Amino acid sequence: MISLKVNGVVREVDVEADAPLLWVIRDVLKLTGTKYGCGIAQCGACTVHLDGQPIRSCVTPVSAVGSSEISTIENLSGDTATHPVQKAWLELDVVQCGYCQSGQIMAAAALLEVQPNPTDDDIDAAMNGNLCRCGTYPRIRAAVKRAAEIKRSTS
Ligand code: FES
Ligand code: FES
Repeated sequence: MISLKVNGVVREVDVEADAPLLWVIRDVLKLTGTKYGCGIAQCGACTVHLDGQPIRSCVTPVSAVGSSEISTIENLSGDTATHPVQKAWLELDVVQCGYCQSGQIMAAAALLEVQPNPTDDDIDAAMNGNLCRCGTYPRIRAAVKRAAEIKRSTS
């Protein structure tokens, strides 16, 4: 058994040490908001936070997590969609098919924790590994800036 702290709760999971964290999150813990895209750290669909840092859960063996805290999209604001990034995403109608958006939102949320007023370059640097086949990039960039405004106005 491996012990993981996920979304503030300690969970015991009966998996192999080299099981990808993504599969533990989705298949064992049934937190299906995090998506599988490529499985090789090339798309960002599987992005979750590990102690606040965005990571690719598809290439993270569950044994590498240790006592670090995992946070998934389900933990951003529960069912309320009240995180500044979620508010901005809704306001600017960012989503097209939606498949990449969990990873996009998690990457954006992590960026705003370290950079409350991101420039275009900051956004590109933080988000350029998160691919969107629907090409929502202009709306994502605008929404990150709007989320930063919302976050600054409420903190
Ligand atoms: S599924 Fe992990 S980066 Fe694509
Ligand atoms: S919204 Fe469809 S892949 Fe990004």
